[in-house]
Amino acid sequence: MTIDETGLRNIPDPPGITAARTLPASWYADPAFFEHERQQVFRRGWVCAGVSDELPDPGAWVARTVGGVPVLLVRDRDGTLRGFLNVCRHRAAPLCDDQGSGSVIRCPYHAWLYRHDGSLAKAHGVGNPAGFDVADYSLKPIAVAHWRRLVFVDIENPATELDLGPLAAAVDSCRLEDMELVLRESNDRSFNWKVLLENYSENYHTPFVHPEIDTTSTEDYPMVSDGPVLYAWDRLRRPGPADDETIRSTLLPGEPGWERLFSADTERPYDVGSYLTIWPNAMINLFPDAVLVMWMEPLGPNTTRVERRLYALPGRTAESMNGIIDAHRLVHDQDVDICVAVQRSHDAGLDADGVLATVEERGVYFVHERLRAALGAGQ
Ligand code: FES
Ligand SMILES: [Fe+2]
Repeated sequence: MTIDETGLRNIPDPPGITAARTLPASWYADPAFFEHERQQVFRRGWVCAGVSDELPDPGAWVARTVGGVPVLLVRDRDGTLRGFLNVCRHRAAPLCDDQGSGSVIRCPYHAWLYRHDGSLAKAHGVGNPAGFDVADYSLKPIAVAHWRRLVFVDIENPATELDLGPLAAAVDSCRLEDMELVLRESNDRSFNWKVLLENYSENYHTPFVHPEIDTTSTEDYPMVSDGPVLYAWDRLRRPGPADDETIRSTLLPGEPGWERLFSADTERPYDVGSYLTIWPNAMINLFPDAVLVMWMEPLGPNTTRVERRLYALPGRTAESMNGIIDAHRLVHDQDVDICVAVQRSHDAGLDADGVLATVEERGVYFVHERLRAALGAGQ
């Protein structure tokens, strides 16, 4: 790494980006491609499935769909998060369709009872099927892990460990756990999941799609990636008088001093921001006083469920809180509008045959590279 004459740290181009091209329309619109991709991307490896505050107490559960697979997240009696396929071991009824809590999980079809560790407690009225032993009919487990308030699952590998790498650790000092939920939204949107992930992972569009965001004080929007995490931040034009301004201009995420950003003074929404794309489906904006968590569940080639949770430090006036909520909602609505419009081109089969901006669209390149790796050789 080198420092340029304005005091900004140079971050080299990722190898290969100059030759990169945009993806074909069929990758966003073709049902057969979608099925293959859903299998390769969402049914293997870690995928965000929600937030842990929706499972607050022992005995709580929440039903989710991950890569089209119904899953059940459960807070066990000892506080451990567990995950199972949301499929009764009798005749495959879904055990739950929303969220709830209780001392056991009861299948709505024939009332088999499961403990929170997934074991079958009672097969009500089953009689004497040959060789039947309740110990053989536990719910099928899936791997569950949490990082901060986010919950991840891995459908395919029950024994795997979540490792988000050092860039996730660079936001350790963000006070997310001290914040309160101020907005919860779930919307089914008319675009392929990658259209929003690409949109989130670049700032190239910001002056045009979000004209009310003041970007004049930032020189650029650098990005670094490591493993499944892409980390972008608002970098100041040059080191300023305040410590946090120097940190933003001269350090990379996770270097000593970076943690001070999360206690920096901030007056405006979208100031002093860190923006994490966590492959394949989570996006987090972190500010000293608020955090926006988004994750996606692809429902079809051109339909995506977008879940959003906004957290903020308590103690604000209602007016100030409404200001934060309105700012985030406006920005999201603007992004949704452009993403829906882009999807119309994909649905029409119109290939852009485009290139990627070598600095501004490093995040888009990150998305494409992760996708190609997940799809395997030959893509
Ligand atoms: S399908 Fe669940 S008890 Fe019959
Ligand atoms: Fe945007």
